[in-house]
Amino acid sequence: MHATESFRIEGISGKKELRGTIAVSGSKNEALSLLAAAALFNGKVPFSNVPVISDIEKMTALLRHAGAVTDEKGSAITVDAATISNGRFDRETARAFRASIILTGPLLARLGKVTFPPPGGCLIGKRPIDVFLSGYERMGARVCTTDDNESFEIVAPEGGLRGAEIFFRVQSVTGTEALLMAASLAHGTSVLHNVAMEPEVTSLVRFLESAGVEIHGIGTPILTVVGNGGKALSFRGEKPWTITPDRIETGSFVILGALCAEELTITNCDPSQLALPLDILKTCGVPIETTPDSIRIRDNSKPNKSFSALTIRTHEYPGFPTDLQAPFGIFATQATGESVVEEMIFEGRLGYLEDIARMGANVALAHVHKAIIQGPSSLSGRELYSPDLRAGLAYIIAACVARGTSHIHNIHYIDRGYERLEEKLRGIGVAIQRVKA
Ligand code: EPZ
Repeated sequence: MHATESFRIEGISGKKELRGTIAVSGSKNEALSLLAAAALFNGKVPFSNVPVISDIEKMTALLRHAGAVTDEKGSAITVDAATISNGRFDRETARAFRASIILTGPLLARLGKVTFPPPGGCLIGKRPIDVFLSGYERMGARVCTTDDNESFEIVAPEGGLRGAEIFFRVQSVTGTEALLMAASLAHGTSVLHNVAMEPEVTSLVRFLESAGVEIHGIGTPILTVVGNGGKALSFRGEKPWTITPDRIETGSFVILGALCAEELTITNCDPSQLALPLDILKTCGVPIETTPDSIRIRDNSKPNKSFSALTIRTHEYPGFPTDLQAPFGIFATQATGESVVEEMIFEGRLGYLEDIARMGANVALAHVHKAIIQGPSSLSGRELYSPDLRAGLAYIIAACVARGTSHIHNIHYIDRGYERLEEKLRGIGVAIQRVKA
């Protein structure tokens, strides 16, 4: 993988020629959270179905830097945090992705002190970390910046973090995950109000409960955590902990199938985590059938078949997921009528539509949170520069729909979150090649 690589894609000019079966990998965001949670444990924690992507490599590198031992065999990863001792993050790695901030929770709980840079991540908005810092302060920690103002230093109180009542200003996903982990080892009970309820948060609660942490309110906006007084956890499972399917990869493949496939079966997925997006697509006329672990699109190329326009407004789970907003924006360019896309979670996540307009789409940006898209419009292939991970896959979908050749650059963003993507896409007929840019 080189930053100078790009994807070359031959579009199929709006025809629906793709067909076959495509398998979904494990959830990137769930795996990042659970690998970080392994730092709470005093011994080996084995995971399976971990996606083989660069963000996971960064998380295991941070864990090793903290003193843990990791063993990676494809999608099977074991983390042994018995020997963690270093709370000073490797700056370059921590700055390279957002999820590094999750690790502050377990390391502060285990070591009593962490020093870390502001996290990196997709340029989709300011992405502050006030929820984390105020939460740790509420648990008795002292938060300050280092002399060079380049990093944060957090020191737990003598004896360890204290259980506290914490009110989240926003339902931050990684904020919920980090503070849930810190509260698990605190002295006393914590009540976390207005937490995120994404499936990866629910998976983290189940994972911590499996190690003996007492948590109440799973799946609700208020979680009560009975801290265990600072004792490291131990893994009690008989077999590796399995990462659940990536709901965002799943939803992106459904959009690709709706726009470009005569028939497509998506396997190794969990449709129940995509109830709202799938309902919206069915209402638009996409022929979708589901089983508990698969989604099927078929009889999708009837002549003169068109999809009706849609209105989406991103919202914390179980609302419409912001990570699927860009793929749905591409769908809207092919739907008949006026679609409205409102991005309410991030203030910089509609920028990709400018590139899609240059391909021929009819897009009007009402303001940073709202776009109006008239469809259908025919798209022409062009040079595209992926601004972030999820827009990158939206560009691939647009390039498949388009007439002619597209080159998508900055695919290191895409490699951060999608495992063996070109192999999976070639398997259903997409003409995609990874080339030196
Ligand atoms: C997680 O990011 C995901 N990343 C994102 O996925 C996802 O888009 C996002 O949740 C929303 O679902 C991971 O899980 C690694 P937030 P996170 O904290 O936790 C504001 C992908 O492509 N906020 O829920 O960083 C923030 O600016 C990525 O996989 C504060 O103001 O998102 C945003 O407007 C992209 N202060 C809103 O809350 C804080 O302290 C939601 O952000 C924290 C967040």
